[in-house]
Amino acid sequence: MTALLRVVDLVASYGRTKVLHGVSFDIGAGQITTLLGANGAGKTSTLRAICGALRREGVIELAGQSIAREETETIARLGIAHVPDGRGTFTRLTVEENLQLGGVLRRDTEGVKRDIDRMYDCFPILRQRRRQQAGTLSGGEQQMLAVGRALMSRPKLLLLDEPSFGLAPLVVKDLFAIFRRLNRDDGISMLLVEQNAALALDIADTAYLLETGRIVVSGAASVVRQNDGIRRAYLGG
Ligand SMILES: Nc1ncnc2c1ncn2[C@@H]1O[C@H](COP(=O)(O)OP(=O)(O)OP(=O)(O)O)[C@@H](O)[C@H]1O
Ligand SMILES: [Mg+2]
Repeated sequence: MTALLRVVDLVASYGRTKVLHGVSFDIGAGQITTLLGANGAGKTSTLRAICGALRREGVIELAGQSIAREETETIARLGIAHVPDGRGTFTRLTVEENLQLGGVLRRDTEGVKRDIDRMYDCFPILRQRRRQQAGTLSGGEQQMLAVGRALMSRPKLLLLDEPSFGLAPLVVKDLFAIFRRLNRDDGISMLLVEQNAALALDIADTAYLLETGRIVVSGAASVVRQNDGIRRAYLGG
């Protein structure tokens, strides 16, 4: 398996407080990898460290190229898109303006227009709401917009921070079906952080469990799902 993203001994801190203590993991090209863990384990911090939003040390390589010292914008240009927790859309802009902003680093104006149309095909509700302010969308619609906006940069790797948070089960089902399709048809690799471990293990190829800033379990999702500790703590038995 060739690693699309390789992380070795990642250390990250907020001010003087270290929150990641040497995290190592790989994301295979074309794979969905999930990062599980309790509240405060460091999942969000790991995603933020990868995309340069947090001071970090260690090895981070995208397709063999070091990005550990690059800035957020460069990392986005190189193909990593981040859907932060709490959605991160521009609430005062319309749906369409948000999608346009997602493609702002691209030069191919025509391609951007085509992709906005593709996003509307992917999330038909957004087409209906294209002139509506993002802040007035429902939670599920905002989550779709956040994902759509991230996809507008044509990423190789999508970092998803709790995409199911606050959504009704049916909306979650639809959203995860879209993740599966984007992975299968467009070959987009994903690093998925989820509180809903059952859901995450269902869609993922590989899983890692983070505990207070350290990886303590790793393996194929189908194997990790059988792990007794994981079952007790994250799968309700
Ligand atoms: N901006 C910040 N300043 C200082 N400490 C922070 C900051 N953000 C997070 N932390 C601390 O870093 C640690 C890891 O937090 P992080 O948000 O990465 O956890 P998480 O696994 O995403 O948790 P959750 O499941 O609750 O989202 C926690 O102890 C948290 O208090
Ligand atoms: Mg978090």
